Amino acid sequence: MLFIASDHAGFELKAAMLKELKGKTETEDLGTDSLESCDYPLFAKKLADKVLANSGSLGLLMCGTGIGMSIAANKLKGIRAAAVSDNVSAQFAREHNNANVLCLGSRVLNVKQALECLNAFLNAKFDTTSPRHQRRIDEITSFEK
Ligand code: RB5
Repeated sequence: MLFIASDHAGFELKAAMLKELKGKTETEDLGTDSLESCDYPLFAKKLADKVLANSGSLGLLMCGTGIGMSIAANKLKGIRAAAVSDNVSAQFAREHNNANVLCLGSRVLNVKQALECLNAFLNAKFDTTSPRHQRRIDEITSFEK
């Protein structure tokens, strides 16, 4: 399951991504539902709670830059949210960082670029061939209070 949310700045990109994903990936749209100004932290929290409650699920957050969403989502224990602008970073966010949330910026990426990032993220898997990535994630997890 891929949970999806945005603020007003990411609303149109969210609509475009949902259209592209239709029939290919199971998605749940958590809002926002219009271009009316809203606060991105509330949507980051809503999505993070869903990802944490649904083992193995992933999240996609969109705002103007992806940065505010990632800062907010990363406050939740167990969330590893990556704000990226290219498909290589999106791929490594899964392979090395076991990111469970991808954050994209509608003012940074066009739909094609955003889709490339999302596909790279969804098609990559956490690299368990060496213990070093899990060890580093465990170190990060140990910082959580
Ligand atoms: C909203 O104008 C904008 O600040 C927000 O979408 C996001 O870019 C924050 O990081």
